[in-house]
Amino acid sequence: MNDAVNTTWDIERIRGDFPLLSQRVNDKPLVYLDNGASSQRPEAVLQAMDRYYRECHSNVHRGAHTLGDKATTAFEGARATVRDFLNASDSREIIWTRGTTEAINLVANGLAAELTAGDEILVSQMEHHANIVPWQMIAERTGARVKVIAISERGELDLEHFRQQLSERTKVLAVTHVSNVLGTINPIETLIAEAKASGAYTVIDGAQAVPHFQPDVKALDCDFYAFSAHKMFGPTGIGALYGRADLLQAMPPYQGGGEMIERVSFEKTTWNQLPYKFEAGTPAIAEAVGLAAAIDYLNSLDRDAIEQAESVLLARATERLSAISGIQLIGTADHKVPVLSFLIDGLHPSDIGTLLDQQGIAIRTGHHCAMPLMDHFGIPGTARASLAFYNTTAEIDQFGDALEKIQRLFAA
Ligand code: ALA
Repeated sequence: MNDAVNTTWDIERIRGDFPLLSQRVNDKPLVYLDNGASSQRPEAVLQAMDRYYRECHSNVHRGAHTLGDKATTAFEGARATVRDFLNASDSREIIWTRGTTEAINLVANGLAAELTAGDEILVSQMEHHANIVPWQMIAERTGARVKVIAISERGELDLEHFRQQLSERTKVLAVTHVSNVLGTINPIETLIAEAKASGAYTVIDGAQAVPHFQPDVKALDCDFYAFSAHKMFGPTGIGALYGRADLLQAMPPYQGGGEMIERVSFEKTTWNQLPYKFEAGTPAIAEAVGLAAAIDYLNSLDRDAIEQAESVLLARATERLSAISGIQLIGTADHKVPVLSFLIDGLHPSDIGTLLDQQGIAIRTGHHCAMPLMDHFGIPGTARASLAFYNTTAEIDQFGDALEKIQRLFAA
């Protein structure tokens, strides 16, 4: 149980909303601590997608028939739910994508026309490959340069270094809201304000933030904010990009095809209005409905209680792991979400993962799609436990006990 949390927080009821959590793995009750890679879905999401396919499915924006209208209403209603979740002012600013990666690629391609040789794109040392590689590809095309904001040994952004890197040459600041490896919550309000004052576009990777708290794009005042549904209890294969309408308006389309056009002829093709200009082809309709159901589900919970429960879990996990001999925690920022990357002397991370799996405990091991961050720490990878609000302190204790045992029995 998550003790010391709000009395409205009924963890057993919440866990009951997630059917997969009650299964057994390797003959042990599942302890799912791989939420940073992908979280689990509540019944409400499963039912919404099932209902959509049983009762509403047709293609959207096309059919001159009742089902087409129903599907379009559900699909555009989902867009409005995402708009409200991010506190954007206009549904035209919400573009459906396959996830954060596609969203960042879309922005990078869209901004390419603004970049020339000598321009700089500022990212941080803790970025996921999804917020590095698209910029490297654009830099190669345009002659721009990718520069890197340093981080401290605790895994916090070095603000002084950021300020030294920022100049009139900086055209784009692309940073993560929350690190998938370190759990660090970056001070993006400050970064955005300073980058904007310097004339740069601001692009935020929100993939690891949205499972833990609700971003407010108006308050953040960023130009672009990207996230994926599957990390926030929604379906795979869908995410969204928030972009400022005037910037999206000025950007060229990302992909060509149906839906994104106004008129096609062999002489000249013109683009559809926002947001459809960026949505070529039949979209992931059921997945959009599922994402909206995930947001509705989160809205039905007490968001303060979620944050409180997660901070109890983080404190407990940090205490348990810190007590294990030979352990090294990677990422000990003051301000972080419950993500714990670690190494144990004498044990390879992948062996830790395998041994925990035998106990029914799921974690992730490896470089976590953040090789430059691994290089910074001089390590090939880590073991990583990433928690969600549906985890319990009892599970954290099982995890701690299992790690202690592994360390005793297997560490050289
Ligand atoms: N980016 C995901 C993770 O951190 C897959 O595990």
